[in-house]
Amino acid sequence: MSAFNRRNFLKASGIAVLPAFLPAAAKAAVNTKQYAEEPIIKFFYDGEDFNPAQYITELQKINSKEAIKRDFYLQGGAVAAMEKKFEEITGKEKAICMPTGTMANQLAIAVLSGDNTKVFVQDTSHVYRDEADAAQSVFQKRLMPLAKGQTYFTAEELKTAITALKEQEVFASGIGAVSVENPVRRTDGRMIPIEEIRKISEYCRSNNIPLHMDGARIFMAAAWSGISVKEYASYFDTVYISLYKYLGGANGAVLCGTKTVIDKMPHLVKIHGGTVFSNWFSAAMVLSRLEGIENRLQESIKQSAAVFSGLNKIPGLKVSALEGGTNIYTLEIDKKIDGNKMQQQLNKEFNIRIPPPGDKNKTTLTVNETILYRDAAYIISAFKSCAG
Ligand SMILES: Cc1ncc(COP(=O)(O)O)c(C=O)c1O
Repeated sequence: MSAFNRRNFLKASGIAVLPAFLPAAAKAAVNTKQYAEEPIIKFFYDGEDFNPAQYITELQKINSKEAIKRDFYLQGGAVAAMEKKFEEITGKEKAICMPTGTMANQLAIAVLSGDNTKVFVQDTSHVYRDEADAAQSVFQKRLMPLAKGQTYFTAEELKTAITALKEQEVFASGIGAVSVENPVRRTDGRMIPIEEIRKISEYCRSNNIPLHMDGARIFMAAAWSGISVKEYASYFDTVYISLYKYLGGANGAVLCGTKTVIDKMPHLVKIHGGTVFSNWFSAAMVLSRLEGIENRLQESIKQSAAVFSGLNKIPGLKVSALEGGTNIYTLEIDKKIDGNKMQQQLNKEFNIRIPPPGDKNKTTLTVNETILYRDAAYIISAFKSCAG
């Protein structure tokens, strides 16, 4: 039976794993848990990625425990409950749900800056590179990039850049805000050392410069560094967290900060066209996925350590952590192995997805909760079988 037919057969039969069809090496290691659908381990994305059918099933489970309450125009119901939860998680006075992280970043920076135009950002940040120049074109802010190509700028570099302005520019205009992304998507999820965050925060606070954090993936930084989301948040005036990257939501963002800042947001969200009619379907999912997330991420880290140690014993495979990294690791494949063939075989025969290694026979493995769908021995055996 071809791999393709085997997959269809398994799906049609409703039985996830029939050991008789698995290569001998993997058989012994099969997790005997029976799945409603074939579980797919994905070594990309930061979290589980629910397809529409799975999303609906999850919502039904949530709704059967306690009826989901709807919101109207992002007010009340599950959205309000979720905002309250984020106030507890971040320790901030107030949280607000927004339709996108881009909007959360831009509105936070605009409000924190007031009439001042200069905003310091990392050169590699989403705010600088991936928000379609919204700060410049919509909010009349001048983004000042620091630390070209790097994960972060230091407090000293920030201070030097700000101090140098007096000599570099004749007509002084005030500093609006500083925005810090952590961890940094464009540098493969690397983190800013906490000591540097503390210094940046101290410098900004003692100079009355508002500080925003793009913490889209702050739960990843918290899990890998052992520093709580609340502690990270404490160094910033506003913090944005993504609702869909690893918290299961279909979309969205939450922005947390002081009451004074957050109370300005509903009007601004409306005038920028973001007051969607409802978002209870994301909020209910996020509330549910938040329960136990720290434990699941710690379990994922533990499991990844066991898996990667096993992979490193397979001749021709080398998995390494990135310096200062979070959940993204590199996989180097010896040229004796056809990495792209291995990738396809892992997918077809074992439901393990990795990004294609390409010509360099090198790729990344992103750890997320899907690594818990099978035991470590199954994953190691699968790689062994495909790397042979
Ligand atoms: C670091 C970072 N910030 C902000 C965003 C923006 O999020 P959204 O897609 O919700 O606008 C993203 C999305 O990819 C991101 O990776």
